Order: sequence, then C-alpha cells, then structure tokens
Amino acid sequence: MTAYSSLVSFIFISFLFSSFSISIAIVPANETFHYVNEGELRLGSDYLTFVSEYAPTYRPLPAFTFPFQLCFYNTTPNAYTLALRMGAVRTQTVLPWVWEANRGKPVRENATFSLGSDGNLILAEANGQIVWQTNTANKGVVGFAILSDGNMVLRDSKGNFVWQSFDSPTDTLLIGQSLRVKGGPYKLVSRESETNNVDGVYSFVIEPKRLALLYTYRANVRGGATWSLLNTLFDKRENDNGMIFEDECQLPNRCGKFGLCEDSQCVGCPTPNGVFAWSKDCDTKPPGCNASGFKYYELKGVNHFTIKYTGGNGPMKRSDCESKCTKDCKCMGYFYHTDRSRCWIAYELKTLSRVANSTHYAYIKTPIS
Ligand SMILES: *[C@@H]1O[C@H](CO)[C@@H](O)[C@H](O)[C@H]1NC(C)=O
Ligand SMILES: *[C@@H]1O[C@H](CO)[C@@H](O)[C@H](O)[C@H]1NC(C)=O
Ligand SMILES: *[C@@H]1O[C@H](CO)[C@@H](O)[C@H](O)[C@H]1NC(C)=O
Ligand SMILES: *[C@@H]1O[C@H](CO)[C@@H](O)[C@H](O)[C@H]1NC(C)=O
Repeated sequence: MTAYSSLVSFIFISFLFSSFSISIAIVPANETFHYVNEGELRLGSDYLTFVSEYAPTYRPLPAFTFPFQLCFYNTTPNAYTLALRMGAVRTQTVLPWVWEANRGKPVRENATFSLGSDGNLILAEANGQIVWQTNTANKGVVGFAILSDGNMVLRDSKGNFVWQSFDSPTDTLLIGQSLRVKGGPYKLVSRESETNNVDGVYSFVIEPKRLALLYTYRANVRGGATWSLLNTLFDKRENDNGMIFEDECQLPNRCGKFGLCEDSQCVGCPTPNGVFAWSKDCDTKPPGCNASGFKYYELKGVNHFTIKYTGGNGPMKRSDCESKCTKDCKCMGYFYHTDRSRCWIAYELKTLSRVANSTHYAYIKTPIS
C-alpha cells in the first residue's frame, strides 16, 4: 500500500515537473508584444489619393511588412476589427482589408492584441475577456511574423508554422493562399455591408467537384441557414451531345505550370518559337531580373485565370503595361486587352484559357539567350 502510494506520488511529482517544464516561457522576451487599441485615430483617407476599404477610422499597429499592415479599424464607433490591410499608397487608391481576426465580434477601446511568452496570440477586451485567439499556448511558438505574401505566422524554433492566417481566410485569397477540399479552409464569406462587419449573404466554397458561389435566403431560415446555388464560377458550355459542363480551363492548375487550355483540355505549350504539344513539363524559363536579359513573346486570344475576377489596371498603353512588368522581377508576363486598354501583371502563369476574343493578348517573358 505504501509502495503503491509512493508510486502514485512519484508519478504525480513527475507529472508536476513535466507540466512545469512544458509551461515555462518559450517565446523570447523580445519577440513577445502587447499592443493596446488606444490613441489617435486616423481618418479613412490620409491623403486625397487613397482610402482604406470601407472608409473607416483606424489605428495602425507596429507590425508591418510591406505592403501589409495590421490595424484596428472601425466603421461603427467603438466597434473595432483587428485586420490586415494590403497596399501601398503609391500603387493603389483603395487599400483592401485582406484578413480579419474578429468579424462579428468587435472589440472596444483599449482592447489588446498580444503574443505572450506561452506563444498564444490573443485579442482581448481591456478587461481581459478573450475575443479571439490562436490556441497555440505551449506549442513551441518562438515568434510572430507577417510574411511578404501577407501570411501571418507563428513559427516554432525549426521554422515550421504552428499557426498561419492563410488557414483562416475571411473574404480574400492572396496569391499563394488556397482553399482545400481536404482539411480546409473551405470557404470565404462576404461582409454584410460597408458599415456592418458581420458575415454577409455570399460565400465562396470549394467542394469536391466544383467551386461555388452561394447565397443565403435569409428570410426563410428555419432551424439553420439554407443555402442555394447562385452561380458557379466556371462558364458553362454545352458539348456535342447537348450536355452542360463547366469549363475546367478556369482552374489555375488545370494545365500545370504553364499551358494553353481549350474546352477543359490542355492543348498547347507556348514557347518563343511557337506553340507545341502540351506535356507536364511545359513551363517558362526563368527570365532573370535584368531587363536586357529577357524579351517578350506574344500570344493572341488568351486570358489569364485572374482576369475573370479583377478588372486589371488602366486604361493604359501597352508599353506602360509592359514597363510595369519589366521593372518587376517577379512578373512572369502581362496580359493586355486592346479593346479597353486594360493591363494585368502575372506573377504565376499556369493555365491560359484560349478565348475567341482576338483583342486579348498575353506577353510572356523569356530569357534572350
Ligand atoms: C530577438 O533577438 C534575437 C537574438 O538577438 C534576434 O535574432 C531577433 O531578430 C530579435 N527579434 C526581434 C523581433 O527583434
Ligand atoms: C483607455 O486606457 C487609458 C489608460 O488606462 C485610460 O486613460 C482611458 O480612459 C481608457 N479609455 C477608455 C475609452 O476606456
Ligand atoms: C544587364 O545585362 C547587360 C547585358 O548583358 C549587362 O551589360 C549589364 O551589366 C547587366 N546589368 C546588371 C545590373 O546586371
Ligand atoms: C471581347 O472582350 C470584350 C471585353 O474585354 C467584350 O466586350 C467583347 O464582347 C468580347 N468579344 C467577343 C467576340 O467575345
């Protein structure tokens, strides 16, 4: 009996020690932070030339990685959202919010956003009530960072991401961010209105066989939301047998790293010397950074997968579109519509859709030698 109790107390003591050793501080003191939502509020437009999306008042936080800035913003007095804003004043006129911690659960003045020594990232009211957290206490976190692609991460000592904001999107996908059928994240949800930051009626959802844009019929809700298919993102086409199908050419990865796609099939591998048969190896050669080391070749009647979702820049001259791409090392090519003089810069080429529209051009960077 005594032996048994001492075994129990030995286990208990070991447990105490092991839990003690787990819960000691692991985030170095200089990597912890504690920001308070207080002080001067900036106006929606600091200059006449730009405005933050929804024209809120806001407080920028020190956490900043060009062009991403963490801020507390409010469109309703004393109801703040902690959010990441994208954009540089000189390149854009409306700076969008691309990620939010607490939609539908606003915080008040003096709320705090902090990374404690235990590695948990917490948004809390001034009285300590937790509004949002990453639940990463004692999971090996050693620091927080906003990466240059807009992903906010909590890293462990090996550089692995213990938590990343790309796994909890709000209503925006950044380049490199994805929705996943397996394991999620599955969806983006729209915002109710400019002033009311709660979930809105639209959501963009990935399902095993399609991407869907859904719309709630809110007046009829009985025992939970009902959803209805409003539209799919892919254009529908009719085949020879009169069957309707969705055009897979609009899936960025349909033709791998690079390929021409028509009627859901990969039909060609464009090169500076013409279009060859498509294969999995079809790719562009790295153009390098030096403008005198690359040139462009032209493809007529093609669209980039992003063109359906963004209006592009412009109107501008093709030469201006080209020099934008030339000056930008990461630009792999640009897309230009001559009818409306619109310009799209592409950092990834992937699947180009063939279109009947002869005013749509692509110019692909290629090394000269
Ligand atoms: C904290 O200190 C370490 C070691 O000196 C340094 O490598 C790291 O960059 C510092 N972190 C910050 C956020 O200043
Ligand atoms: C925020 O905290 C400061 C400092 O404690 C205090 O002076 C101020 O009144 C607080 N603001 C509000 C709105 O509670
Ligand atoms: C760019 O390439 C040209 C021609 O090859 C060369 O003369 C020039 O020095 C290069 N510039 C830089 C910055 O490497
Ligand atoms: C070509 O694209 C423009 C928009 O860029 C559109 O207005 C026009 O109808 C299209 N033409 C054809 C033949 O599809």
